[in-house]
Amino acid sequence: MKKYKWGVIGTGKIAHTFATALKHNENAQLCGVASRTADKAEAFAKEFGFEKSYGSYKAFAEQSDAEIVYIATPMASHYDDAVLCLENGKNVLCEKSLTLNADQTKQLFALAKEKGLFFMEAMWMKCRPVYRKMKEWIASGMIGDIEYIKADFANYIPYDPNDRLFRDDCGGGCLLDLGIYPLTLAHDLLGMPDEIISNAHMRYGVDISNSIILRYKNGAFVSADNGFEVQLSNNAVISGSKGYIILGNWFHCTCEGTLYSKDGTEIEKFIRPDDINGYEYEVDEVHSCLEKGALESSLVPHSDTIEVMEIMDECRRQWGMKFPEE
Ligand SMILES: NC(=O)c1ccc[n+]([C@@H]2O[C@H](COP(=O)([O-])OP(=O)(O)OC[C@H]3O[C@@H](n4cnc5c(N)ncnc54)[C@H](OP(=O)(O)O)[C@@H]3O)[C@@H](O)[C@H]2O)c1
Repeated sequence: MKKYKWGVIGTGKIAHTFATALKHNENAQLCGVASRTADKAEAFAKEFGFEKSYGSYKAFAEQSDAEIVYIATPMASHYDDAVLCLENGKNVLCEKSLTLNADQTKQLFALAKEKGLFFMEAMWMKCRPVYRKMKEWIASGMIGDIEYIKADFANYIPYDPNDRLFRDDCGGGCLLDLGIYPLTLAHDLLGMPDEIISNAHMRYGVDISNSIILRYKNGAFVSADNGFEVQLSNNAVISGSKGYIILGNWFHCTCEGTLYSKDGTEIEKFIRPDDINGYEYEVDEVHSCLEKGALESSLVPHSDTIEVMEIMDECRRQWGMKFPEE
């Protein structure tokens, strides 16, 4: 496989984690990093070994010869940052939630297709070995028909008015930050629900907790709770007519999943410690797509990203929650 020239936009928390995985990938060339502040870009480039640094996203997009860009800015910036990259001929791996709403997501995918460029939501959970193992168990009929999914994602995060999580102008709130994981899992396994029932507790202009039920015509239910001011177990339980699967604590980033029969007997435990930090699998997935000339990933297809955004749009509609840009 050839080496792919990577760029990174934004130098916050997740950019550091992702760059750690990138640095260790033998097929990745760390080409350029962009920050709104030249000093931050320079420091990040030094820390990870990027060849060049840029003091603006625009300068990076126009001048860098990166082929693929990882966008690690707040949700409200993703749309503009992705357009900038696509207009300058760059393939894109963009953090979740891809945009503020499904309309923006559809526009980005349409633009990527028009330009003949690869575009993927950085839904790392779907690329991880344990997640793929869970799908194998389900596909081989080990748990029968799925009847119920319970997946939570809630962490105690102290209020900070400057943190993007609590700022509506950054696309804050726990739905787009945390809730997207249980909803992505549920949608991947059961598809679009027939009914969405949800409510949220709003503070600082964003949802700081929410509870979502998805109902399916065949009788299946999903229960997903998310929040910033409460700690939950953050497991996922996928229960079917013949058995169930538990993905461990922090189900979206766990290395461990267990398959049980209906009576609770453990049938198989899958444990696969990360080679680096768990983000290496999405880097590999991007490389494999670029190698094949694919414009989208079969692990994280565009249609899934759009439909999950649509579910989140409907939840926010039910709560009367709009972002300032909407
Ligand atoms: N996959 C995962 O596991 C995971 C985990 C956490 C977060 N995320 C996603 O990654 C994205 C970034 O999250 P994060 O936790 O890394 O956020 P963060 O620490 O706040 O970093 C975001 C970076 O975006 C840039 N930025 C551009 N416009 C900004 C603005 N108006 N306000 C603040 N920063 C701005 C800044 O970089 P410069 O100053 O260098 O321009 C900032 O450092 C979000 O979409 C989030 O959902 C994914």
